[in-house]
Amino acid sequence: MKILFAKDYDEMSRKAANIIASQITMKHNSVLGLATGSSPIGTYKELIKKYEQGDLCFDGCYTANLDEYRGLTKDNDQSYAYFMYNNLFKYVNINMDKTNIPDGSNPDAEAECKRYDKVVEDLGGVDIQLLGIGHDGHIGFNEPDDSFPVGTHCVKLTDMTIEANKRFFARKEDVPTEAYTMGIGTIMKAKKILMVASGKDKAEILYKTACGEVKPDVPASILRLHADVTIVADEAALSMIIEKAPELVIGLPKK
Ligand code: GLP
Repeated sequence: MKILFAKDYDEMSRKAANIIASQITMKHNSVLGLATGSSPIGTYKELIKKYEQGDLCFDGCYTANLDEYRGLTKDNDQSYAYFMYNNLFKYVNINMDKTNIPDGSNPDAEAECKRYDKVVEDLGGVDIQLLGIGHDGHIGFNEPDDSFPVGTHCVKLTDMTIEANKRFFARKEDVPTEAYTMGIGTIMKAKKILMVASGKDKAEILYKTACGEVKPDVPASILRLHADVTIVADEAALSMIIEKAPELVIGLPKK
């Protein structure tokens, strides 16, 4: 696991976008595993900038998003499909037919999860998987559990996650209580993994992810078993790692 220092959110976003851009440049038909939340928004803005400057072309790329709220249609402004369209897809030359997100409007959870696993499998797996991290260590919507789920599944969101995500909704009651998410097994099969994290509120969970025990009640901790993981995080999110294990951080400015 490589941990890259960024001084703030903007630097984190630039560094993460550079990694994704080099992936697309080296392989024009890359399968990009994409994520939602506030952490990757800056990364998407930087990718859009590179596209506008003529440095990046998305028309060969395929995408597979991590997750979607169960019960929301893709035109609902709180759906992750809507988020992806309005934070990235509509600004770049991606072919929308090559974009994939679990269908939250499918009430048949079993059928939808099976369908989505097949979608990812038919793409040949993910080349680079972008991840944020929840306060409880969830990745995608893989919440703390007794085991690491393998494939796409339907999850009940924890109160901590509903609480954290209510900021995007008019009322807490409007936050869906369930979601479809790629499993940890699928995430771990991605060839490369890139996590972005920012803010003091992520410092403890990032420390547990990088330095604690690998266990399913900190889902992100399993990333330590993956051969090619890069975490790009800002100084605030890295503060506990910097305090307890500074040798793990690449690019840490000398005091
Ligand atoms: C949601 C998403 C996750 C994301 C997490 C953290 O629960 N399903 O993929 O990583 O939020 O979001 P943020 O980046 O806004 O802190």
